[in-house]
Amino acid sequence: AASAQLAGGQAVAPAAAAATSATLTIVYGSQTGNARHVAEALASLAKAKNIAAKVVDLADYKSSQLKNEQYLIIVTSTYGEGEPPENAVSFYNFLFSKKAPKVPQLKFAVLGLGDTSYEFFCKTAADFDERLAELGGQRLQARADLDVDYDAAASSWNNALIKEVEPEFASAPSAQVINWPGQAAAAAASQYTKQQPFAAELYTNQKITGRDSTKDVRHIEISLQGSGLSYQPGDALGLYFSNDPALVAELLSLTALQGTAEVSLSNQSLSLLDALTEQLELTQSYPAFVEKYAAASANDALQQLAADKTALRAYLADRQIIDIVRDYPVTDSPITAQQLVDALRKQQPRLYSIASSQAEVEEEVHLTVAVVRYDAFGQPHLGGASGYLAERLAEGDKVRVFVEQNNNFRLPANDDTPVIMIGPGTGIAPFRAFLQERDARGASGKNWLFFGNPHFTQDFLYQVELQGYLKQGLLSKLDVAFSRDSAQKVYVQDKLRKHAAEVYQWLEQGAHVYICGDANRMAKDVHQALLDIVQQHGSKNAEQAQQYLDELRVAKRYQKDVY
Ligand code: 2AM
Repeated sequence: AASAQLAGGQAVAPAAAAATSATLTIVYGSQTGNARHVAEALASLAKAKNIAAKVVDLADYKSSQLKNEQYLIIVTSTYGEGEPPENAVSFYNFLFSKKAPKVPQLKFAVLGLGDTSYEFFCKTAADFDERLAELGGQRLQARADLDVDYDAAASSWNNALIKEVEPEFASAPSAQVINWPGQAAAAAASQYTKQQPFAAELYTNQKITGRDSTKDVRHIEISLQGSGLSYQPGDALGLYFSNDPALVAELLSLTALQGTAEVSLSNQSLSLLDALTEQLELTQSYPAFVEKYAAASANDALQQLAADKTALRAYLADRQIIDIVRDYPVTDSPITAQQLVDALRKQQPRLYSIASSQAEVEEEVHLTVAVVRYDAFGQPHLGGASGYLAERLAEGDKVRVFVEQNNNFRLPANDDTPVIMIGPGTGIAPFRAFLQERDARGASGKNWLFFGNPHFTQDFLYQVELQGYLKQGLLSKLDVAFSRDSAQKVYVQDKLRKHAAEVYQWLEQGAHVYICGDANRMAKDVHQALLDIVQQHGSKNAEQAQQYLDELRVAKRYQKDVY
């Protein structure tokens, strides 16, 4: 219940206050929670200055409100090729449509969160910023586009913004503090957060793909006992990991540095070995590292590469930090331990969609983890968190975790509502949680699952459970697409198209549709299949089909958890 309240944001703003006084409306576009956390931190600052503020998930923001809005702050991330995060899509489309109002009354500011490894870095934030200005809004403060390591920069942007608006609110006679629960309410549920993760015991690490599979997928069970942490189906588990000691040793050797060297990181003093093992990001690569490392090691060739953004992006693909240092080891010009630390960014926790329901597993949390393992540049590579969970953590060991809520991936409140779940690969995870939850609740609504993977014999994740659910009747329908078992590839969207009439019938009966898994190809192809199904069976043209799915999205009947 606490999380449902947090979600809405508007729920905490007393209607009377909103109607009579200026309010700082802070909206966020977020898929992983980062933008939400920054928005909540901004609201806390506002509250401390007696500025009425409310935080609203963009999925819940009423577009019709924009023409009356006085102060609007947008914090948003960007996805894929410059696309808005899923919860911001409707508002984004509205803003760029002919329906968007002129907003001369509006004062606004936009903060972008992104990743400089991507070509369309912070594009959604830039789009919002430019469009609101074009519609007549006045900027309160220049936009900032922040990289993955955004904490300090976000907090100074937030502070500057509050300084900027404070005088205006102080002079507003009816300014009121809204009792905003924010992080205080979240903290009340458990003392453990992203900033202060819980050291949880690993119970189980079981390979659930076959010996001959091209994939290594693990079913992971973790104990939350004693943490007070709780979660809803649809939430994610955030997880920190330790880097591979062999990788750290090789990095030290290639940079000719001693692990015992003292370094400073986030105002703390620690050994270089500890910093590299526990705190810094080694298993991804990013432009800032190349720039700083090239400069520190006075490497001309690498500095040239760093200057060409397009070439650099291509170079960085599939490379980890170690690959860069292997290609450009420290030779004549030594670097210091502190320079290496400053070139690296801090490890960001990895988020995994939770694969269990507490109604079934109580104080445990289950994950479905694909181990990232590949050969490249003549060397084996292992993913950071997945490699840690699968290979370096023993059962009984502790792993640092926290719960990241996702209010945009939720079962229907009404148990009678039918549900269509599309989750190939590890996209199955939240649907295992959904099914456990609906089973425990005795929900009478129909459940239809679409699952896909390469081979039936090797890759049918949770086969026994799913077939059991089918037999028991919890799953009304189970359609599987084993892509490489036939001459022609079969994907989940092919199965959807095959059952087009029935899929449309379920939609017309009020079904909710969920997609989880690969964002770049699968989710787009499935979206297209749904459009085609609605067009064909609903006798609609392309535009009407689009509108049909948009309406489903706004009604929260079409939700995605894609990555
Ligand atoms: P493939 O690897 O044989 O091409 C989970 O990864 C499953 O999703 C696999 O069976 C994979 O098939 C399949 N897949 C790959 N691309 C896809 C796409 N664009 N749409 C749907 N499924 C896809």
